[in-house]
Order: sequence, then structure tokens, then C-alpha cells
Amino acid sequence: MAKRPRIAVIGSANIDLTTFSDRFPKAGETIFGQKFDLGFGGKGANQAVASRLCGADVFMVARVGSDLFGPATIANFKKLGIDATYVKQIEGVSSGVAPIFVEPNGQNRILVVKGANDLLKPADVDAAANLLKTIDCMVLQFEIPLETVYYSVSFARKNNIRCVVNPAPAQSINMSALVGLDYFVPNESEAESITGMPVRNVDDAKKCAKKLLSGGVKRIILTLGANGSLLAGRDGMEHVPAFSVKSVDSTGAGDAFIGSFAVFLGEGLPEREAVRRANLYAGLSTTGVGTQKSFYDRARYDAEWAARCGS
Ligand code: RIB
Repeated sequence: MAKRPRIAVIGSANIDLTTFSDRFPKAGETIFGQKFDLGFGGKGANQAVASRLCGADVFMVARVGSDLFGPATIANFKKLGIDATYVKQIEGVSSGVAPIFVEPNGQNRILVVKGANDLLKPADVDAAANLLKTIDCMVLQFEIPLETVYYSVSFARKNNIRCVVNPAPAQSINMSALVGLDYFVPNESEAESITGMPVRNVDDAKKCAKKLLSGGVKRIILTLGANGSLLAGRDGMEHVPAFSVKSVDSTGAGDAFIGSFAVFLGEGLPEREAVRRANLYAGLSTTGVGTQKSFYDRARYDAEWAARCGS
């Protein structure tokens, strides 16, 4: 039986307010949308939920606000079996929220108001230090202060913990704080914004990954949406194709990829195989509406994997 990984996500929790519409208003214009969905989101929380649904023991380190959303977010973690001991509610601050706009082809645009996520500090990492020293893998994103991301990476390095950083949303970063990082996982637009190099196809992705590797991280996984992923290290690069799915909403697909990848790798699968399986997990997440609610649980995922790839 596969090892059950222990994964900690130090990151954001948002409430997603998703509007589906044929088109979106111009300045000064009011139009009707077709559908609305309210759900739990945030890149950190989504990645934690994906890892949990894939079967890991998951620990969340986060901050939520003192509005209706804060306690609901904590209750959602607990309901899913995610340890929320280090999810703190902060008085007088709003929770993170994300108005999301989805086009008929499933493409999304996301606006994030960070709220309490912006108050997650290195001291919160210190508070959880004893727990964090027991985990196999730490997962981080950029919806919390970058000083906390850098501090956590350095904590992981000192304590020999595998560390995955998803630079989302893209911001200008200090790559020297990430030297020696195990996995840096941007999507096309994040990679483009960090390097200034366009990523329109796999060849572009390879050039961009080379530049990112020169910054000192060990491995890059550049996620390419419907084109799969590029796995890159100093020993070479490999394009890992996507699986064919009928996509209705791509929101959270990158989070599904990262959360599931951390589990597949932690279970002991070879890296390329972990990427391939995460490609399918992410693809399947786009076949349903919303973020966390579109993620497959392990039994459903395994059945889909077996149907497409055998055991
Ligand atoms: O990656 C998708 C997520 O981005 C959404 O859940 C939203 O909250 C934003 O954080």
C-alpha cells in the first residue's frame, strides 16, 4: 500500500464568487449574467483540499477574517478532515474573497481581495513549527505576504522538508530567496510575467524554464493548461501531455494539479508519473463548475485513471 503523505499548506483561503456570462460589461455598462456560484476557494485552501481528497493527511496554516466567511471556511476544512489548528480568525478584518468571471469556453478571470490572507506572517510559521517539522511536503502560493513565503521556504530547507512553490498570482519576486527550492510550479502567464519571456507553446515554455532554472531552483513544472505540463531540471526537460476532457470551468485547475502532484510524489511515484497523474486530476477538475467542489475524490479519480490508463 502507498505511503500516506503528510502535507502542510501555508497559504490563502478565499470565498469564490463566480459569475458565468456570455460576455462581461464595459465601463459604465450593466448587463445580465447567466449563472452564479458561491464556493470555498483560495489557492492555498484549494491545494489543501485537492491533497486531502487524494488521500493525504493535510495541515493548513492560514488566516481568515471575522466575517461570515471566516468560521465557514474553518468548518469546511474540518468537514473535509483537514487539520485547521493553525487557521486563525482575525478580528476586524475581512476574509479573502475572489470575484471570478467565467466565459462560455471555460476560461476564467480572477480578482482577489486578500483580506486576512495578507496578515499571515512568519510568526504564524513559527507557531506551527513543531507540527511542520513532522511533514513530508510544504506547499506555498503567492496570495500571502512574500516575506512569509520566503521564510517558509527557508524553514523547509533547514528542516529537510520537500517544498513546492506556486507563484500565483504572479508578482515580482526575489529568486535568490528560492535557491535550492525543490519545485517551482508556475502556469504560462505566471512564468511569462516572472521572466518577461512569452509562453505560447512548448518550445517557448522550454526557453522560459531554462531561464527560471538559472535562478537556482531545482525543478520547474510549467503548467500549460490544455497542453499538459513541462517538467524541467538541469538534467533535461520533458513535455508531459494533457488528457482530453470536456472543460466547462478551468478555475482552480492549477491548484488541483499542485495538490494532487504533492500526494502522488509523496506516495513514492516517479516524478514524471506523478506529473502525468496530476495532469489528469487537473483536467478532470475542469469538467465541473467551481474550484474545490469540482475536485475528484480518490476513488472517483482512481476509477477514471483505470478507465483511461489501466492500473
Ligand atoms: O486558483 C483559483 C483560485 O484563485 C480561486 O479559488 C480564487 O480564490 C483565487 O485564489
